Amino acid sequence: MIILVRMSKDEDIRIKKISGSDSTWITDFYQRRWGSSHVVTRGVIHDVPSLRGFIAMKSDKRIGLLCYRIDNQDFEIVTLDSLEEKIGVGSALIEKAVETARSESCRRIWLITTNDNSSALRFYQKLGFHLVAVHRNALEYSRKLKPEIPIFGQDGIPLRDEIELELII
Ligand SMILES: CC(C)(COP(=O)(O)OP(=O)(O)OC[C@H]1O[C@@H](n2cnc3c(N)ncnc32)[C@H](O)[C@@H]1OP(=O)(O)O)[C@@H](O)C(=O)NCCC(=O)NCCS
Repeated sequence: MIILVRMSKDEDIRIKKISGSDSTWITDFYQRRWGSSHVVTRGVIHDVPSLRGFIAMKSDKRIGLLCYRIDNQDFEIVTLDSLEEKIGVGSALIEKAVETARSESCRRIWLITTNDNSSALRFYQKLGFHLVAVHRNALEYSRKLKPEIPIFGQDGIPLRDEIELELII
């Protein structure tokens, strides 16, 4: 069962599709925030600027980014970042992803987060996602593909496992 909790969203937040003119911003943003414009999930390297996705805008400022890929009716949220937290940016991007996944006839939305990311685990579960797998020590292999991945994550927690979440739609 899908339990999408709607949160009150800042009226000024607008979600738009990524276009060619966003690619420099996405590359710079990802490099600054995550050390490289590549992301590794389940042993696969993704080049973030080449993915499809959405940007959250407030006036003419970019305040959030969600990138995804579709494989065999599975919709993977590869990245989600909010630059102005707790005003509804993340939820608005997820809502757009759900709408898009449905229109693309996907049955499942899934994503990977890491074991240290307790705020993301709370966020996704409140939006109806289920924890479906813990891929123990997956970060060991991810670091071979992306050496910039740190040893310690949020709150000094050792960054070790991938946690897989899903929403059946
Ligand atoms: C996880 C993340 C994407 C959430 O984004 P966000 O923009 O803060 O999300 P929202 O504002 O929609 O919701 C966050 C919280 O604010 C609350 N909120 C939303 N709108 C609100 C409003 N108008 N007033 C008060 N609270 C509000 C939500 O209820 C939610 O509460 P919770 O933390 O108890 O779940 C963000 O924290 C982030 O970018 N984290 C770093 C990157 C990351 O971890 N990404 C996910 C890993 S894949």
